[in-house]
Order: sequence, then structure tokens, then C-alpha cells
Amino acid sequence: MSNTPKKYAVVGNPISHSLSPKIHQSFADQFNLKIQYGKIEIKPLEFSRVIKELIDEGYIGLNVTLPFKVEAFKICDHLSQRAKYSKSVNTLTIRGNKIYGDTTDGPGLVKDLINRDVILRDKVLLLIGAGGAAQAVMYDLIQKKPTIIYLTNRTLSKSCDMAKYWQSHADENKVKLEILPPKEFPNFNLIINATSAGLIDNSSPVSSLIQGDHWYDMMYGKSTPFLNQSFEQGASKASGGLGMLIEQAAASFFIWHKLKPETKLIYKELT
Ligand code: ATR
Repeated sequence: MSNTPKKYAVVGNPISHSLSPKIHQSFADQFNLKIQYGKIEIKPLEFSRVIKELIDEGYIGLNVTLPFKVEAFKICDHLSQRAKYSKSVNTLTIRGNKIYGDTTDGPGLVKDLINRDVILRDKVLLLIGAGGAAQAVMYDLIQKKPTIIYLTNRTLSKSCDMAKYWQSHADENKVKLEILPPKEFPNFNLIINATSAGLIDNSSPVSSLIQGDHWYDMMYGKSTPFLNQSFEQGASKASGGLGMLIEQAAASFFIWHKLKPETKLIYKELT
């Protein structure tokens, strides 16, 4: 057997600030596993060509981040059920000549919520956003059987499309899907920001006064506009997306190595 470390990487654009190499390396160290994990920027329109080249160069696992998760979904030979439903792939595994696709964003979010003792079953949720990030976590949120998931988005028609798309999965799990804004906001047990608001313009996606027991920003960063707003509105609990980032990486790590890393250490190191 060769001693050359197996090759992994995260691909996206931009990619320079990605924490994935650090997280995966720290997981590998826990098991004395020798891996090579890089970060590779791919230009728009070059995704599938570059992925083929990376496979030829011997990469056997690739994490995919913005803006390529839908393109990654399209190039797979085999998809997990979760990826098929979500139409999103963030973990590519190369076996033989075949590409296997999965998405660990939903499991990452749910695991981080569990770590924070946030219960989803029989609760009232608000999911803000109707882009790729929101779409990628719906499968797992529904499976945790909240009573109701309210969907809202700056462009409300996209929330309607999303509700239609997820209706049968929601019915199977006895979860109600509703579109906001209603006249009066209920008190939500959990408010999740899955928008990219604040990335460029420092704005929060929520303009009205809303009440939530726990506010969760899937975006990570110490003080995002959404988290700042949560404090202004008196939220007692609020968290950013670093835990989700680490847990989705742990789920990818498990797909590739069949090993479950401890995630608390790296969380502490990165906060
Ligand atoms: P991603 O893959 O990160 O979800 P996306 O598919 O482009 O990226 O979706 C971005 C999401 O953030 C959308 O829900 C978008 O709302 P629109 O559908 O109305 O475009 C939302 N978003 C982006 N900037 C926003 C802002 N300033 N305020 C509110 N929502 C915003």
C-alpha cells in the first residue's frame, strides 16, 4: 500500500477564506490519518471541466461550496436520497470512475441545533430565505417533525415554489408548511436565517418585529446583522453558523473515512 496521503479539497468561488482545510485536518489528526486537503478556486462556467481534471489528478473526495452546489448535483452518477430531494451536493466521493454525491448541510444544521439543546419536534419554525442554502436544509428540518415550518423570503413567490416542492415530504412527516407574512406573527420557537443578506450590504433579512426563542444564522461570523437584530429584539438565545459548518464537515468526513470526529475542540479553536 502506498504511503502517499489521499487527496481531498474544497472547491468554490471565492474560496480563500474557507475553514474546511483546517477543520478536516484537525479531524484527521484525531485519528492519526494522513490526508492532503486543499482549497481550489474554480471560475464560473468551468466547474465540470475542473472537477474532471481533479479526478484525473487523483482527488477522491471534494467538498463543494458556493456557488456550485447545484452544478455538483448535476454531475453525479449516484445521489443520496437527501441530495436527490434537495437538488444540492456539497460532498463528492470518487469511487472507481463514478461520482457519488451527498449533501451534509441539513445534517450539519440539525446536529448543531441538537448540540445546543434546541428541540425541533412539535415546534414552530421560521425559515427565512428561498435560495440554495434554504433548499439544502429543508429535507432534514422536515424530518425532525416540527408542527409547522413558516417560509418567508424577500421574493415571496420563491417561498411559494419552495413550499409546493416540499409539500409531499412534509405531508409524509405530518409537518405543515405555511408562507409568511400572515397578519400577525406567531411566536416562533426557532428563527433560521438562510439568506445571504448581510454578506455584502450589512442588512438583516427581517424587517418586522418578530419574536423567537432561538435565533440561528446559518451564516457564520461573530456579529452578523441578523444576530445583532436578535439581541436588539430581546432574544435570549442566538447562534451563528460556525457549529453548522463544523458539523457538516464532520458528516462529510464520516462519508469518506467512516470515522466520527469529536467536534468540540475545533469549535473552541475557531471561536
Ligand atoms: P444561497 O445559495 O446562499 O442561498 P441564493 O440562492 O442566491 O444563495 O439565495 C440567496 C437568498 O438570500 C435568497 O433567498 C435571497 O432573496 P431573493 O430570493 O429575494 O433574492 C436572499 N437575500 C439576499 N440578499 C438579501 C437581502 N438584502 N435581504 C433579504 N434577503 C436577501
